[in-house]
Amino acid sequence: MAILSQRFAPEQCQAVAREVLAARRGQPGALLPILHDIQDRLGAVPPDLLPMIAEELCLSRAEVHGVVSFYHDFRASPPGRHVLKLCQAEACQSMGVKALTAEMEQKLGLPLGETLEDGSLSFEAVYCLGNCACAPNAMLNGELHGRVDAQELLALLAEQESRA
Ligand code: FES
Repeated sequence: MAILSQRFAPEQCQAVAREVLAARRGQPGALLPILHDIQDRLGAVPPDLLPMIAEELCLSRAEVHGVVSFYHDFRASPPGRHVLKLCQAEACQSMGVKALTAEMEQKLGLPLGETLEDGSLSFEAVYCLGNCACAPNAMLNGELHGRVDAQELLALLAEQESRA
């Protein structure tokens, strides 16, 4: 499903949330499916929607916020056109991902966890990509890359940008 852009207006976000909530009404354990549906359609779970979700599910706002913040995959704003994730878990740490992260932050001019202002790239942490034997690991636009270094990551990004 297409990711909607940051231009998506708050009223439109609420309209999407109302549709999702109506479609899941009465379903047991609906919170996570609702959050995933909203993120699939909006590219994020905007914090403004949490009170509406809490009210529909008879939960407190703190409970909904707790679930959203517990799962790293939920985001408060839509991702950039390209998403580069660097694994920060133990095996990748032991193979130097902290230094690689710092090098990439410097080369991209972008701190981990942020998106470039022009919306071209999000740089994110991820915690184990299931490919520990080939650490350090990265995922670019959903594609896994093992034993990466900064030079390779920059080349992969340039290749993706040339395809865009
Ligand atoms: S720790 Fe990085 S892929 Fe498992």
